[in-house]
Amino acid sequence: MRQILYVSRSAVPERDTDIDGIVERSRHNNALEGITGLLWSDGRRFLQVFEGPEDSVAATFERIVEDTRHEAIRVLHDVTIEQREFGGWTMARRTRWDKADAFDEKIRRALSRTSPEVRDAFLDLIAVETAA
Ligand SMILES: Cc1cc2nc3c(=O)[nH]c(=O)nc-3n(C[C@H](O)[C@H](O)[C@H](O)COP(=O)(O)O)c2cc1C
Repeated sequence: MRQILYVSRSAVPERDTDIDGIVERSRHNNALEGITGLLWSDGRRFLQVFEGPEDSVAATFERIVEDTRHEAIRVLHDVTIEQREFGGWTMARRTRWDKADAFDEKIRRALSRTSPEVRDAFLDLIAVETAA
């Protein structure tokens, strides 16, 4: 299996970033393709890790890269994995009502079984966001 982790920037204003729509479509497609992962967004940036069969990951990433709703995609890692690190597709995101503590806890729980690389990438981003 293959796993890709990338960051990108929303190409539309924060208030127009349709995270719910993206997640809904992703869940539908990913279920069919055998893809699991995690998408984090604060409306301005995305951090996504997804994994599954080689062909499915390649096809999905091709679509993601072509999506004009985001830009400046930077792959942080692209690796072969023995087994999934994300059992199901979940997403946590910051809203103005989320307390930083509750939000961090949510992400930490979701990442508790992942590789240090994936975990650190998310935690770095959250740390920056918390400090901002
Ligand atoms: C940040 C971001 C993450 C996305 N993640 C996924 C994903 O995990 N799976 C997926 O199928 N599409 C994902 N998409 C959507 C794809 O870019 C594309 O719009 C979609 O796969 C098209 O599917 P459809 O032809 O079934 O409508 C994502 C888009 C963005 C902007």
